[in-house]
Amino acid sequence: MAKVARTRVGKPDAAGRKRPRRGAPITVPPSAEAPPPNSHAPLHRDLLGWFKRAGRDLPWRQGRDPYRTWISEVMLQQTQVDRVVDYFHRFLERFPDVRRLAAAPEADVLRAWEGLGYYRRARQLHAAAKRIVADHGGQLPASVASLRGLPGIGRYTAGAIAAIAFDLPEPIVEANSRRVLARLAGHGAPVGGSSGDEPIWGIAAEYLPAHAPSAWNQALMDLGAMICTPRGPLCTRCPVAAHCVAHATGRVASIPAAAKRRTSVELEETALVVRRGGKVLVVQRGAGEWWEGLWDFPRLAAPRILEPLGLSRRRVVGRCSYSVTHHRVAVTILCCTAAHAGPRGASTMWVEWMGLADLAMTAPGRRIAAIAGAGSEQADSAPPPRRRVGRNLPGRRRPAGR
Ligand code: ADE
Repeated sequence: MAKVARTRVGKPDAAGRKRPRRGAPITVPPSAEAPPPNSHAPLHRDLLGWFKRAGRDLPWRQGRDPYRTWISEVMLQQTQVDRVVDYFHRFLERFPDVRRLAAAPEADVLRAWEGLGYYRRARQLHAAAKRIVADHGGQLPASVASLRGLPGIGRYTAGAIAAIAFDLPEPIVEANSRRVLARLAGHGAPVGGSSGDEPIWGIAAEYLPAHAPSAWNQALMDLGAMICTPRGPLCTRCPVAAHCVAHATGRVASIPAAAKRRTSVELEETALVVRRGGKVLVVQRGAGEWWEGLWDFPRLAAPRILEPLGLSRRRVVGRCSYSVTHHRVAVTILCCTAAHAGPRGASTMWVEWMGLADLAMTAPGRRIAAIAGAGSEQADSAPPPRRRVGRNLPGRRRPAGR
């Protein structure tokens, strides 16, 4: 029987749970005494053995708290591991468990998410936390079907929580494991998108060992990140090269086949930095807009907001551009002065320039603020420091309104 790596227990976390010490060995359950009933036992042995020796020591792998797995998987959906690590620590300090997340104001959750992008994920995470508290006694449910009933938890995230945290035999397909599985099976068709990935889910299910689904799924991800990389894969150091159809048939470089790229759409917009009596006007992105719920500078195409203000002294102070989904947007930044405050509205606000640092702002809004602040004639208009959501972050303040 394989030797089991024992998990060394460290200090209790904020919720009082014992957690493994950093650097504790990755736990891979022993293989069953009898070989598994499918033909992939040698592959399982080789990959799980490598994972035990070389798997990454990532913060969400300390213990098997489904909450930590859930948060990390949502963060990792569109963001690289290296960037997620810091966000993960800060988020867990701010919201150490599902009840604390559910009880927080949405604006605090968005603020903690700022910089990760795709804010819909943060909003859905928050909505799901409330549902977990209301309907599941504050515990993440331990089945794919129940997990999928929660906001923002789709096939991948449900499978990842079930497999990684609950060690249930569920296949998962993400960017790294998709490539590893395609190469292992010699699957030459384009992957990605629901139709391209369907066969990969089938391959993932076929290879899945019944005895160590948590370790297996994470091992596939690590192999993809460290050895079976998109370009220049390290096949000579690959622990499973002997089982790899792409390797055996000389097709590693051409698998997975590139998916058709969507052509990008070019857009132009004008952002207005409107000042009045030491304050600046910000607007909240509405339902259905990109960055819904975050604050930004108004765009020129918002006459309802801008007309009542009596704008004067317009001047271009800079330009920037950003990408969102498959759009590339070029922004011209105008500074101007308002004669009137305009009507009071729930989605508009006059804030002190320095108060921008405390707002959950869109990424373009941050850049516009930096450019407008740097180009400003006013000495007090340096770019507002972006307050990090960190250990000592005070509660988010809504800056003094008008
Ligand atoms: N990418 C997505 N999920 C991951 C995980 N749990 N570990 C490492 N990389 C990942």
